[in-house]
Amino acid sequence: MKKIKDDAFLSLFNLSSNPKFIMEKDSGKITHINESFSRSFGYDAKSLKKLNDDEFWAGDNFKTKWLEELSKKGSIVEFPAYFYDFSGEIRSVLLYSVISKNDDLDIIITEIVDNTEKEKIATNLQSTILKLNDAMESMISVIAHTVELKDPYTAGHQKRVAILAEAIARKMKLPQNVIEGIRIASIIHDIGKIAIPVEILSKPGKLSPMEFELIKTHSVAGYNILKDIEFEWPLAEMVYQHHERIDGSGYPRGLKGDQIIIEAKIISVADVIEAISFHRPYRPSLGTGVAIRELNEKSGIFYDKEIVKISVDILAEGIDLS
Ligand SMILES: [Fe+2]
Repeated sequence: MKKIKDDAFLSLFNLSSNPKFIMEKDSGKITHINESFSRSFGYDAKSLKKLNDDEFWAGDNFKTKWLEELSKKGSIVEFPAYFYDFSGEIRSVLLYSVISKNDDLDIIITEIVDNTEKEKIATNLQSTILKLNDAMESMISVIAHTVELKDPYTAGHQKRVAILAEAIARKMKLPQNVIEGIRIASIIHDIGKIAIPVEILSKPGKLSPMEFELIKTHSVAGYNILKDIEFEWPLAEMVYQHHERIDGSGYPRGLKGDQIIIEAKIISVADVIEAISFHRPYRPSLGTGVAIRELNEKSGIFYDKEIVKISVDILAEGIDLS
């Protein structure tokens, strides 16, 4: 090993509060470490020199890749790598390296940022988010199941609306997060029906005007159930608006055009398609042909034109709602 003669450089190297090492480029041996390196990773210069590469670098050719990149560019910022500390624990690090000359010898001066804790936190956060998503998914399906227990005739209705609404939203190229909100709201959009007497929900034959008025309260009832729960998406509002029509003829508030959020416009179209295409207590299925006709007739009146166009395409291509 050649001596580094620049005293000022070495003093600064030793004093630095960040872990640093110096490596001879050709031999690949670490020749100097500073005190901060010893404190952070447990090694002294002697114990480190005794190690083979695979006893220090933790897997996957980090050293080779780092050296290759460094030779090409002369310096590297934030090169992610893993190595073992003195106790044998794997540490996640970011390497900041530069090649320098010491007499005729190329040396690599490297500063290290210890990323281990940050990475652990990120991994834990990731798994917490996954668990929360699972919990929410279960909660949503319990809610969906609750209303379907009470209203077996529309069992599966919400699921099919969700498949349709998601397909429409996807074809409209909405952001992934918005699509996810639409899917979840669709699965529970009729939750408010738990507030309506079973006899009315499952009545075969036509409803009286009063019974129909009662059915119509399910949008508000659903909104009231959901409005105080913190979701990432405006689920309560989507449920509230899923029977609004763009000409203002819908219920419960008679909202018009842009007053209706895009999510609700999509769910309302998916809802109508499903209602027409599948059988109801009071009539058998009318088929997708009738659904397409209804959409085209009311396009721009009840339903958003673009959503109708996309929905008709989806129906024409055929979609599996099972
Ligand atoms: Fe509904």
